[in-house]
Amino acid sequence: MTTRQAGALVLGDPRFSKDIRNWAAHRRGEIPADWPLLFIVAGKGLLTTDGETHRRLRLPVQRALAPRRVQALAPRIEAVTDRLLAALADVPAGAETDLHRGFALPLPLEVICSLLGVPEEGAVREELHELSAAAMNSEAAPEEVRDTVARRFPAALMALIERKRARGDRDDLTMDLVTALDRGELTEAEVIGNLVVTVIGGHETTANLICHAVRGLLTHPGTLSAARARQEAGEDPWPDVVEEALRWESPSRHVMFRYATQDVPVEDTVIREGEAVLVPLPAIQRCPHTFPRPPADEFAPGRPDVSRHLAFGAGPHRCPGATLARLEARIALRRLFDAFPRLALVPGPVRRVPSLGINGYRELPVVLR
Ligand code: HEM
Repeated sequence: MTTRQAGALVLGDPRFSKDIRNWAAHRRGEIPADWPLLFIVAGKGLLTTDGETHRRLRLPVQRALAPRRVQALAPRIEAVTDRLLAALADVPAGAETDLHRGFALPLPLEVICSLLGVPEEGAVREELHELSAAAMNSEAAPEEVRDTVARRFPAALMALIERKRARGDRDDLTMDLVTALDRGELTEAEVIGNLVVTVIGGHETTANLICHAVRGLLTHPGTLSAARARQEAGEDPWPDVVEEALRWESPSRHVMFRYATQDVPVEDTVIREGEAVLVPLPAIQRCPHTFPRPPADEFAPGRPDVSRHLAFGAGPHRCPGATLARLEARIALRRLFDAFPRLALVPGPVRRVPSLGINGYRELPVVLR
């Protein structure tokens, strides 16, 4: 069994549960009440439920992110991309700028906020980003994370719902969830839980995907010229670039906790009933047994076995936002390199975000022209 097969097994096999009640150490009272991740793994939501409850919670999100509805967002994504690129054109030639903050992050944030119907006016969009970053910050004090996840994030989302109700908003993911709430199909806590997962999952990861692809292309120069040559020949090279970026630098560092509901043999070990498991995607996706040629550490768009990556997870919790993330990244990369064909990285080591869940850079300093 390769590490990739072991990872896929843990992610997809029904003997692994997402429900914290199946975690023996938690049942025995061994997990301190102030452990920062407790508020995330113990909350009631998409990522902490199994079976029928999970299917009921997932349905409205999956509907909103269905490929046809996502495809209809393309003009909106293109417009946001062009607006951000136009703003970057004001950066003086030769000056350093942070591509993460100025482009990769605001793009998916704007898109997820449109999908959720977050008003453009006011600072709600920025607030949602600040709350996501605070919730995923593994360096923050436990009480700070608790306050973000248990109080500030739900309060901001409840205020958003009230504001949207008052405006008579319809036809967006937030209001789909509110309708399910009004019909008694979801509870208030479930609506908030779904919104939190969608906001966090919907922008940090995609921003990191865009940054990883840019860094892959700029640190492997032959790959950028090959993509350009294909584009000039009338082909679309960006899907291959995006898939390879997802493999080379998984935007998720670990797929969060699953608990074995019985003893499960995995590779040369046995995961015992009640044990918690994290799936380390960056390591799995650099495994030379799964990605032998070109060498797994190389960024090589078009590699034959790229579809074996697990960047969007596997099984019933597989990311419902995959189509949207891919579309955003393809549009972003094509337009970015069209607008700034001489884009270059500022030399030096990249600083990563301190997070168990997120594999991303704190910033991506570049020179645009
Ligand atoms: C490159 C971008 C993205 C990556 C790498 C990514 C990765 C993942 C992964 C690995 C999971 C599975 C978690 C698990 O099994 O425990 C997941 C779930 C999820 N993602 Fe994404 N995601 C991305 C973009 C998005 C976007 C754009 C959205 C929404 C607009 C989104 C919404 C969600 C939701 C709601 C779940 C929970 C699904 C469930 O539990 O059934 N993600 N994502």
